[in-house]
Amino acid sequence: EKGGYEHFMMKEIHEQPAAVRDTLSPRIKDGRIELSEISLDEETIRSVRRLYIIGCGSAYHVGVAARYVFESLARLPVEVDVASEFRYRNPVLEENSLAIIISQSGETADSLAALRECHARGVPTLGIVNVVGSSIAREADAVLYTWAGPEIAVATTKAYSTQLAAIYLLATEFGRVRGTLDEEQYARLVEELEALPGKIEKTLSDKERIQWFASKYAAAKDAFFIGRGLDYAVALEGSLKFKEISYIHSEAFAAGEMKHGPISLVEKGTLVVGVLTQPDLYEKTISNMVEAKSRGAFLMGLTTYGNYNIEDTAGFTVYVPRTDPHFATSLSVIPLQLLAYYVSCAKGLDVDKPRNLAKSVTVE
Ligand code: F6R
Repeated sequence: EKGGYEHFMMKEIHEQPAAVRDTLSPRIKDGRIELSEISLDEETIRSVRRLYIIGCGSAYHVGVAARYVFESLARLPVEVDVASEFRYRNPVLEENSLAIIISQSGETADSLAALRECHARGVPTLGIVNVVGSSIAREADAVLYTWAGPEIAVATTKAYSTQLAAIYLLATEFGRVRGTLDEEQYARLVEELEALPGKIEKTLSDKERIQWFASKYAAAKDAFFIGRGLDYAVALEGSLKFKEISYIHSEAFAAGEMKHGPISLVEKGTLVVGVLTQPDLYEKTISNMVEAKSRGAFLMGLTTYGNYNIEDTAGFTVYVPRTDPHFATSLSVIPLQLLAYYVSCAKGLDVDKPRNLAKSVTVE
């Protein structure tokens, strides 16, 4: 049942190229995105004024990435919230807005309540859901299914990756319809989407080095994940994965926030993982990493092939293939999943069923 792997999590990590392909390819035909299944016609897409993106845990982290992607590609204002906050904060919801509820299980109590809150206030909802026929899938006005297949490990990997893929499809299509992407940009993005599963596959081939590094850091007390823009979004996910299954205290910070407080936590040997896939933010994040290093941090860098000067700063570097920067999160998340996995294994923990956690949180 684990397909020859020791844990479901590793099996599911390796299913990501196929899961992302299964999510993308039925919706791309002859170089064009085809989303007729969600009955969002072009006029509606043009008239949307604001997006609300809602989820819990990793699904929320997809939302954080989605904000950058939608704002950049479709110039659409986006609010992202965790469902348990959204449902109780009496939000001011604009007319002509659309809510996107992201959930693997489709049964998360707070996410379902947030969806109902949107309906009660007249905001239409689109579910990005993995489990067919689940509550959120049934109640949402429209559903864009992720085709990750059943996910058994408590820590999500392939569902997260397919949720990102669903967001890319939507944001790229919104950009075309709303005229913020010209035909050439659109065609290039669609091409990059089609290349993504192969690049995820390639990223997975760097496992042994990460395993070696993880065994060295298995005794760490703290780890910090930093990045800017989309690299911050993936830092959030990397840090959650890490703490969930390794039981090592970890936090993610927007790199620019380090000097506003968190850097006081850095001591000799503290692990700081810097994510640097966004070309325009590269130098900025490097300078935050240098600051942490000068206070004793050990630096792991996660960047794109070609950025080899990072080795002047980081003690250990992992490279991911080049893609359009909007889609880089799909690649940078892979080494972070592997890092968490291997640290958990090195500590002999129950990787697939971490303590205190349930696969689907159906109570508040
Ligand atoms: C983290 C994880 C959780 C879920 C969260 C939402 O690895 O799995 O944070 O992402 O509980 O679950 P769904 O997506 O089922 O609503």
